[in-house]
Amino acid sequence: MKTLTARERFVRACRGEAVDRPPVWLMRQAGRYLPEYRELRERASFLEACADPDLAVEISLQPHRRFGMDAVIVFSDILIPLTGLGISLDFAPGPSVANPIERASDLARLDGDVAAAMGPTCEAIRRLRNELGPDVPILGFAGAPWTLAAYASEKKLSRDVERLVVSSYTEPEFLDALLDRMAEITAQTLELQIEAGADAVQIFDTWAGVLSSQRFRRFAGRALARTIESLPADRPPVILFARGAAHLLYDLAELGADVVSVDWRVDLADAALRIGQRVSLQGNLDPAALQAPPKTIERAVEQLIEAGSKARGHILNLGHGVVPTTPIEGVRAFVEAAQRARG
Ligand code: CP3
Repeated sequence: MKTLTARERFVRACRGEAVDRPPVWLMRQAGRYLPEYRELRERASFLEACADPDLAVEISLQPHRRFGMDAVIVFSDILIPLTGLGISLDFAPGPSVANPIERASDLARLDGDVAAAMGPTCEAIRRLRNELGPDVPILGFAGAPWTLAAYASEKKLSRDVERLVVSSYTEPEFLDALLDRMAEITAQTLELQIEAGADAVQIFDTWAGVLSSQRFRRFAGRALARTIESLPADRPPVILFARGAAHLLYDLAELGADVVSVDWRVDLADAALRIGQRVSLQGNLDPAALQAPPKTIERAVEQLIEAGSKARGHILNLGHGVVPTTPIEGVRAFVEAAQRARG
């Protein structure tokens, strides 16, 4: 088939239409493994970089300049919208919250303006479009209601999100109210980025995997379905990432997303067999594999492409974000192997 633009390739793969090869990008493709990112961070804190469209554009473009991935994700963080709602956030580099939402009476405090907090990110998307033109897809993103609730409800996230999981048994009304509010925040965060020109959006449910299938459906999944449903009918593709969620594959495929992004513990061929005709799949190289010699990475990419070909559509990615110790050469080998492939 004719060579597609990166944007056509990406959107077509999301929708399960024919492509010349699977598109490739990496979660957290901008970040500390890049010397030019570390250099920039000597001049600005992480939150300052998120709040400055010039810096956010520059950081978003850094990996694309070096490796030419098939998509550019705007630089920000899933927790930024909460800062517009009076949540006092710090990164060191893991997130901490000075004034968590711990009980029903705290919910009224979640008041304010998501749009103001997302302003710099939306401006960065518009500037990225000017820089990149129409042919490179720009990805927006948001945290899933459950994962946002997890970070918002504790000063420092407890192991396996114990506090929020316990609250699902001891105070389900509070958890429902918190998730309802977070669903509105997730939806608004996505809508703003769609309006600014995002070609696809990804929802990160990093902590979905701590829930049983039943409790996922009852709490996190319900909030996700409501979020996706509330987006405009002519919305761009929605990618849903969940970590540690092999037991949730069927549930994840039923929430209205176009793409389910699976982590490295899932066998991609098996996921294709189980849910790969309902949704496209994204993933799922182990981030640690980027530390292997290039030949090993190339073989792994070939295997992933073979497994992904069994699905409705496939976007090559890692199973989770790039880690700071990743060598540049590992990322390069991954992207190059993916872009040599022919579908
Ligand atoms: O993918 C990209 O390149 C876009 C930018 C992006 C970041 N965070 C930048 C970041 C995206 C999409 C995120 C999403 C995010 N943030 C998630 C979901 C994905 C996942 O990792 O599961 C979560 C849970 C967060 C919250 C968060 N932000 C954590 C837990 C941390 C610390 C983790 C770490 O890497 O140490 C952050 C900080 C963060 N977000 C950094 C970056 C580049 C490092 C900050 C620094 O420069 O010091």
